[in-house]
Amino acid sequence: MANMPRSVVVTGAADGIGRGIAMHFAHLGDRVALLDYDADRLARTVSELTAEGGQVLGIPTDVRSETAVDAAVAQATQTHAGLDVAVNNAAVYPNTAVVDMSVDEWDNVLDTNLKGAFLFLRAAARGMLAQGRGGKLCAITSGAYRSARRGAAHYCASKAGLVLLAQTLALELAEHGINVNVVSPGFIEVGLRPGVSVPYRERIKHDIPLGHFGEPADIATAVAFLCSDEAKFVTGSVMTVDGGSGAGRFHLPYSD
Ligand SMILES: NC(=O)c1ccc[n+]([C@@H]2O[C@H](COP(=O)([O-])OP(=O)(O)OC[C@H]3O[C@@H](n4cnc5c(N)ncnc54)[C@H](O)[C@@H]3O)[C@@H](O)[C@H]2O)c1
Repeated sequence: MANMPRSVVVTGAADGIGRGIAMHFAHLGDRVALLDYDADRLARTVSELTAEGGQVLGIPTDVRSETAVDAAVAQATQTHAGLDVAVNNAAVYPNTAVVDMSVDEWDNVLDTNLKGAFLFLRAAARGMLAQGRGGKLCAITSGAYRSARRGAAHYCASKAGLVLLAQTLALELAEHGINVNVVSPGFIEVGLRPGVSVPYRERIKHDIPLGHFGEPADIATAVAFLCSDEAKFVTGSVMTVDGGSGAGRFHLPYSD
C-alpha cells in the first residue's frame, strides 16, 4: 500500500543539501514547504520542483528570527493540512581562526545554526504537539560536531550544540510519539562555496575512504529513512553519512 502523503518542512531548502532533501520528499509525493532567506534562489528551486510535479511551497524565512520562523511553520501547517516532518538544515560555515574572529561573525553562526535550529524545532514541535498525531524531527549536523576543524570554532560549537539540542528534544517528545534524529554528513558535493579552495577540496577528497564526495541525495535518503515509519524505534540517534571519513585515520603511515 502506498504511504499517505505527508506535510514536510525543510529549512535552508533553496540550495545544496536542503534542496536535495526537499526534492526527495517531493518525489515521494509529500507536500513540501521550503524555507530559506535567499528569496530569489528559493523561487527558482520551487519552480523547478513544481515543474517536476512536486506539491511545494516556498516561504522566504530568516531562521534567525523568532517571528519569521513561527509564521513560516504556521503557514506551512495551514497550507499543507498539518505538519508531519520538519528538517532543520539551514546553516552557514564561514572560516576564520578564533584569534581573528569578530563577535559579529561568532554571533551570526550561532544565531543561524543553533538558535535558528532551536526556533525552528520548537515551532515544529509545538505544532505537532497541538495536532496530537506524533511526528518526525530531523536536524543536519556535521562531522564538525565531534571533531575540531581549524577556522571553524563557531561552526563546531554550533553543530555540537545542535546534536545535544536534538537529543534533549528526543527525550522530551518521546512520550508524544515524536521522533527526533540527526544526520551527520561528510563532504557533500554542493558546488564551490566561499572559503573552500580547489586545492583544499582535492585534499579532502583524497581523505575520504570511499574516494569521492557524497551527493545531496545521499543525505536526503538518510533523512527520509529516519523520518519514516520503518524507523519508528529510532530516536535521539545520530546517523553518519560520510563515505567513512569519520571512522578513523584512513591512510597508512607509509603510503602517499
Ligand atoms: N556540504 C557539505 O559538505 C556539508 C558537510 C557537513 C554538513 N553540512 C551541513 O548540511 C547543511 C546544508 O549545507 P549545504 O552545504 O547544503 O549549504 P548551502 O550553503 O548550500 O545551503 C544552505 C542553505 O541555507 C540557507 N540559509 C543560510 N542562512 C539562512 C538563514 N539565516 N535563514 C534561512 N536560510 C538560510 C542558504 O540560503 C542556503 O540555501 C548545513 O547544516 C551544513 O552545516 C554540509
